[in-house]
This record gives sequence, structure tokens and C-alpha cells, in this order.
Amino acid sequence: MLDTKVLLSDQVDAREIALVLRELDRTRGVAGDIVEFGCYVGTTSVFLGTQREKGKQLFLYDSFEGLPEKGLQDISPVGQQFVAGELAATKKQLLSNLKRAGVHDARVKKAWFSDLTDVDVPESISFAFLDGDYYDSILIPLQLIWERLSPGAIVIVDDYANEALPGAARAVDTWLHRHDASLHIEHSLAIMRLP
Ligand SMILES: C[S@@+](CC[C@H](N)C(=O)[O-])C[C@H]1O[C@@H](n2cnc3c(N)ncnc32)[C@H](O)[C@@H]1O
Repeated sequence: MLDTKVLLSDQVDAREIALVLRELDRTRGVAGDIVEFGCYVGTTSVFLGTQREKGKQLFLYDSFEGLPEKGLQDISPVGQQFVAGELAATKKQLLSNLKRAGVHDARVKKAWFSDLTDVDVPESISFAFLDGDYYDSILIPLQLIWERLSPGAIVIVDDYANEALPGAARAVDTWLHRHDASLHIEHSLAIMRLP
């Protein structure tokens, strides 16, 4: 197992990685692949890649152009450090980090989430990590994956409890108003589990 204290960036901390991996483990036996929307340099992806159940594919999505413009739901007086273009990376950087961790088979798609369609998403999903920071960057992946989630699948949204990024919690709350899943908040994560 990789050392969760050695992280590729400060975008997630060791506690969050440990929680993500705990929940990933709970989806053992649940059918479907693993997706991450907002992978940056792969801080979380390398752990998803190395700790996933055998036979499950890892699908990663990012513009690699950094954050888009904020929408109205994302405005926060304590979140002014988040601006368009922040957190830009390259697909090459991500692939190199994955390779160094021994993950050679991840499917990486460079795109804005709004340009993705059904064909870009696996047919069946057991685990999803959504880390796009903003309202639309969480809501769009939820729309893309929801019908593909298996019974018992888990969806984790980062920054739910981060007041600098209020769009993440607003997207989750909006979504759960009309969709069925349990919600558990731990650290800054929203952990949703499908019935
Ligand atoms: C907080 S970082 C992700 C950190 C990553 N999970 C990690 O473990 O290192 C947010 C990422 O989401 C991407 N992103 C945000 N909104 C996006 C969108 N609408 N379309 C595509 N990528 C987006 C950014 O490019 C950035 O790499």
C-alpha cells in the first residue's frame, strides 16, 4: 500500500485519502468501474489506481486547464484564491505520476466536463470521486454518472464542508433533493451511498 503521508499535491490531505480508500474498500463486490472527475496531477488517482479491486478500470477526467470561471453558486468571501486557470496541470504529468505508482492502464480523458457525453463514461460504476471544486463541476459529473451507478455504489464529493468552495455542497444538496442516496459528511467529504 502506498504511504498516504507522501502526497503529490496539497489538494487532498492524508485523512481524506484514508477516508476515500475506506469507502473504496466498501465497494468491493459492487459491480462497475471507478471514476474520478477533477484529477489534477493524480494525488488521489494514484491511490484509486493501486488500491482498486482487480478487474475494475480507472477512468480519469480533467480539462488540465485548471478551474473554469466561477458561477454565482461558487462565490465566497473566503474563496478568493480560487480563480480561473488555477490548478492547471498536464496529462503528461498525470500519466507520469500514475506510471511511477505502477498504474499503467488508467483511461485519462482531457475535456471540460460539459463536453463529455454518455460514451465517455463507463457503462457501470461502483465508485466515483468528484473533485471539481465548483457547482457545475460537481453537478455535471453527477448528471453523467448517476444512471450508471450500481446498487451499493459510493460517490464522494470533496470540499462539501469547505466554505471557500460553497458550490460543492450546493451541488450535492440540489442533487439529493431529487435523487435517492444516503449522505454522510466526514472531514470535508460528502459520502453518498446508493441503495
Ligand atoms: C482540486 S483539483 C483536483 C485534485 C485531484 N483530485 C487530486 O487528488 O490531486 C480540481 C481539478 O478539477 C479540474 N476541473 C474543475 N472543473 C472542471 C471542469 N468543469 N471540467 C474539467 N475539469 C475541471 C481542474 O482542472 C483541476 O485539475
